[in-house]
Amino acid sequence: MTSDEHDLAIETNDLVKIYSGNGFLKKNRVETLAVDGVNLSIRKGEIFGLLGPNGAGKTTTIKMLATILLPTSGKATVLGYDIWKDPVEIRKRINLVSGGERGLYYRVSGRQNLRFFSDLYKVPRHIRDRRVEELLEMVNLTEAGDRRVEDYSRGMKQRLHIARGLVNDPEVLFLDEPTIGLDPEIAHDLRGMIRNLAQGGTTIVLTTHYMGEAEELCGDINMICNGKIVASGPPSMLKDLVRDKTVIEIEILEPYLAAIESVKALEGISSVTMKGDSSRAILRAHLEDGIDMIPTIASRLQGNRLIRISSEEPSLEDAYMSLVTNNDQS
Ligand SMILES: Nc1ncnc2c1ncn2[C@@H]1O[C@H](COP(=O)(O)OP(=O)(O)OP(=O)(O)O)[C@@H](O)[C@H]1O
Ligand SMILES: [Mg+2]
Repeated sequence: MTSDEHDLAIETNDLVKIYSGNGFLKKNRVETLAVDGVNLSIRKGEIFGLLGPNGAGKTTTIKMLATILLPTSGKATVLGYDIWKDPVEIRKRINLVSGGERGLYYRVSGRQNLRFFSDLYKVPRHIRDRRVEELLEMVNLTEAGDRRVEDYSRGMKQRLHIARGLVNDPEVLFLDEPTIGLDPEIAHDLRGMIRNLAQGGTTIVLTTHYMGEAEELCGDINMICNGKIVASGPPSMLKDLVRDKTVIEIEILEPYLAAIESVKALEGISSVTMKGDSSRAILRAHLEDGIDMIPTIASRLQGNRLIRISSEEPSLEDAYMSLVTNNDQS
């Protein structure tokens, strides 16, 4: 084994997952190619980001690495152990936290939850009790530790989830959309916790929809689309992919949706996104042929109250949109 291999927490080789099940009214077999030949190298102690749209294959990839789901084919090692041959060794050393509400016992307290999950991992009692207190402290639930989880707010539950993911002091922690649906402030706190864990040496594999989160936390980002890694590298490198793109923003008061649809349909305009609401919206678009298209766009938007048209620095989100759009066409 070379020193490089010693530094790797996870390595995958052509990992494939095909789900097969019954289609509508069980009339036919349906196969879904969820993960399509993924190769990853994740260094120890890094925060590795897997970013992609709904259905891209993020959760499936993470579940295979966490040995919850068997791949259809391909190889992977986690901490040097083979996911096919040594799942038990892997499970002792990892943990998985998924965003959302499931995975905790609501009728009992936060403290009891952590003790219960520690026992599942056979953590010796003297270590367990001390660690549970440390974890409650870390996620700021010491005072609420004896309250029933059903009385916790969403943010408290999510913090308890993180603590639950740490009961076995894992070397690798998989976080599947850990901040989904949380208030910005709570999400910010959680990101701080994730960063601290990585600084303490834990390898973190994180999936997210949030570009800003990936940019803030991750050393390397891997963009996944239709089960394939379409780009990987540090955020700055991914931004370079779109450095030469012309990106514009148009701010519109009381946007007239039909006109916006007709802008989207224009040739030479791609990756159109719109944020805002019916009183004020921002349309962001990539122009294939540069700013010469702006007059055409403006004329399509006649009748709308345009208050700003500006040229923008391409962001990580633009890189992502561009990659996802191109990949969908293939
Ligand atoms: N148990 C399953 N049976 C059949 N198909 C599945 C199953 N789980 C996922 N899929 C399909 O596999 C593909 C990848 O799903 P996956 O959940 O891995 O995506 P994801 O990137 O995590 O998406 P999201 O952002 O919505 O969480 C999708 O097409 C999905 O419909
Ligand atoms: Mg998912």
